[in-house]
Amino acid sequence: MKNTFGTSLSVTIFGESHGPYIGATLDGIEPGLDVDEDFIKYQLSRRRPSGRISTSRVEADEYSIISGVFEGKTTGTPLTVIIPNANTNSGDYERGLPRPGHADYTGHIKYRGFEDYRGGGHFSGRITAALVAVGAIVISALKARGVTVGTHIKQLAGVADRDFGDIVADVETLSHLDFAALDSEAGERMRAAAEAAARDGDSVGGVLETAICGVPAGVGEPWFDSLEGVLAHAIFSIPAVKGVEFGLGFGMCGLRGSEVNDPIRTDGARVYTETNNNGGINGGISNGMPILFRTAIKPTPSIYKPQMTADLEKLENATLELKGRHDPAIVHRARVVVDSVAAIVVYDMMKTGGAI
Ligand SMILES: Cc1cc2nc3c(=O)[nH]c(=O)nc-3n(C[C@H](O)[C@H](O)[C@H](O)COP(=O)(O)O)c2cc1C
Repeated sequence: MKNTFGTSLSVTIFGESHGPYIGATLDGIEPGLDVDEDFIKYQLSRRRPSGRISTSRVEADEYSIISGVFEGKTTGTPLTVIIPNANTNSGDYERGLPRPGHADYTGHIKYRGFEDYRGGGHFSGRITAALVAVGAIVISALKARGVTVGTHIKQLAGVADRDFGDIVADVETLSHLDFAALDSEAGERMRAAAEAAARDGDSVGGVLETAICGVPAGVGEPWFDSLEGVLAHAIFSIPAVKGVEFGLGFGMCGLRGSEVNDPIRTDGARVYTETNNNGGINGGISNGMPILFRTAIKPTPSIYKPQMTADLEKLENATLELKGRHDPAIVHRARVVVDSVAAIVVYDMMKTGGAI
């Protein structure tokens, strides 16, 4: 199903960037969960643009929960959140001149010219606000079970953050950070590099690194619903994602087995591995170590430099000089989207495997 994802917990998204509303429906969330509206607002605020490294289209995200919650708790029936689009400048978008790197051309072909092209329509990063709103409910549900999720900006515009250290503590720190650099000085340099690109009318990309702590061993379904496979599928659904790797990922390829195998140990009470090069997953099933993955986010396709495109109506080559408001970097905003999507997948797979 194109706009629905998940098995025991599914999420459906709908809406367009400049339509009246965007939204999401969660189906399969358990009844009786406290719905922490302050946390939903906080998560939305962390996705919201701020500063010169984000778009100037700032939406208040005044969401409504229109089903699935009664007296502050989930009912267990489909839970739908809608968020109005209030701040749109639809006149900035021209039909027929697709932006290089965006989904304008492919969306035009798929939807046979009937797509709402304004602001990227259904392909817009705007839709991710709805994922973040419902994701906040799932993150709270997992936290109540001792599962925490955190993502830091591993690299932005070529500036690197420090590596995860004490992962559980770092994930806790990230839950309070608005800009997710664990090394605040590196964070300043990231911002400066993104601002420099924005001044040039250009954009930058980067890498996010996510840790999911507290997932018990045994979550994941071989073969095709491996935890890696399902997580990657869902993370690739986030606009601008161009790569996902688990643990040491591609970094394993030039090394020897003796260097990358994670030694298995026990302290008499539990089994664990001494290193975590496999990112907490073996055979598509969690091994009880933190789940670790990295997400490659490309530079924002909409830039203000003139770009080559083709006029789809006249079938003539053309130059695109963009108007509209765009993020010079997506990475820092996508971080909370990755947390939300990862939480939905883990909850779904824990439920499928009987852990919820
Ligand atoms: C939070 C977020 C914000 C985004 N903001 C913009 C933006 O301002 N301008 C833009 O061109 N693309 C933006 N994107 C990315 C596009 O939506 C995306 O590149 C496009 O849909 C094509 O998909 P693809 O890059 O996965 O191929 C954003 C993505 C996310 C997740």
